[in-house]
Amino acid sequence: MTHPQLAQLHPYPFEKLKALKSELTPPAHLSHIPLSIGEPKHTPPQFVLDSLVTNINQVSAYPTTKGTDELRQAISEWASKRFSLSANSLQADKHILPVNGTREALFAFTQAVIDPTTRPLVISPNPFYQIYEGASILAGAELKLLSCLEQNNYLPDFSEVTEAEWQRCQLLFLCSPGNPTGQLLDSQQYQTLIALADRYDFIIASDECYSELYRDEQAPPVGLLQACAEMGRNSFERCVVFHSLSKRSNLPGLRSGFVAGDEKLMKQFLLYRTYHGCAMSIPTQLASIAAWQDEQHVIENRNQYREKYRLFKEILDGVWDIPQPPASFYLWAKTPIDDVSFTQQLFSEQHITVLPGRFLSREHNGINPGENHVRMALVAPVEECKEAALRLKHFIQSIKAE
Ligand SMILES: Cc1ncc(COP(=O)(O)O)c(C=O)c1O
Repeated sequence: MTHPQLAQLHPYPFEKLKALKSELTPPAHLSHIPLSIGEPKHTPPQFVLDSLVTNINQVSAYPTTKGTDELRQAISEWASKRFSLSANSLQADKHILPVNGTREALFAFTQAVIDPTTRPLVISPNPFYQIYEGASILAGAELKLLSCLEQNNYLPDFSEVTEAEWQRCQLLFLCSPGNPTGQLLDSQQYQTLIALADRYDFIIASDECYSELYRDEQAPPVGLLQACAEMGRNSFERCVVFHSLSKRSNLPGLRSGFVAGDEKLMKQFLLYRTYHGCAMSIPTQLASIAAWQDEQHVIENRNQYREKYRLFKEILDGVWDIPQPPASFYLWAKTPIDDVSFTQQLFSEQHITVLPGRFLSREHNGINPGENHVRMALVAPVEECKEAALRLKHFIQSIKAE
């Protein structure tokens, strides 16, 4: 016996990458530089680690699914300030749930809201974070993919969705800052989508887990709840956001994030989670409070990424011109040869691993929007990223000379 949709799940991009590299021998004299995995590598804040150690004895108690009032209050204060929400509109008791990272939350939320009996459609950007796809398949929904192409600034083109598709749509995934593109939706774009959600009665799930990794300190990315507030929708109907400490605070192993938004949806999600059995441990909740209440470490984190983007630009200028995304820690670069050959040759010649764009997307209308692109995550320390940029320069020059 198997779940009927399990067989439809695609292998994860990193499984494909492993297979792609399995027969290759990299140069032994060069150290390996992985730019493929989006796992933050900067040092986590010491005070968060101290909090975990100090409170470790509290694993003796079962935590509740809803989390402590203190954690939800800390999240409410952080999100209200960050996204300029009206005072008391995002209420700790009604609008917020802690989650063990956004990955499980994106998956579980989809299961909690999709009605599989009514031919549901889920709309997602393409390329995408693969959980959107797997969650939709297992919830019994069909996926409509919107290609994020260069001519549309690597954002989904929502005008591709037909009236009939909007009518069937139950859930729209947004990802801003985008993985892998690093591009942003602006308030007007969010507001247009919120108006469509009202008109056709669907839910918007906005994955904002890279929202704190932006380049211009004066221009933080806008979020979905902020767009709601700007429209005067202070109860956030049909809208939920997903946030995480993984990238913001370099704590991917802590497994801590939150979902916030529409009160009715949060109630439904809490019911689902009660059965799902995914309460966050109390030491993790206490460490998360400390992290959400501090911005200094996040500013320092952004500065480290800025330096790496600056080095990449400086070193590759005129050799490989890659758009500098306004946010995220990725570069989404067009390749001079096809993305799979590029990845293989780069590994064989320079011992650098990147992720072929086509592994992050699906073919749609005869094109795969990830083709001839690679994703590079600037997560390694500054010196290692500098070395990667120097080796990439050499590699691109040698391809051009061929
Ligand atoms: C777009 C996107 N959403 C969600 C996640 C999940 O992050 P976490 O579960 O650590 O919060 C990731 C992780 O890489 C991601 O890239």
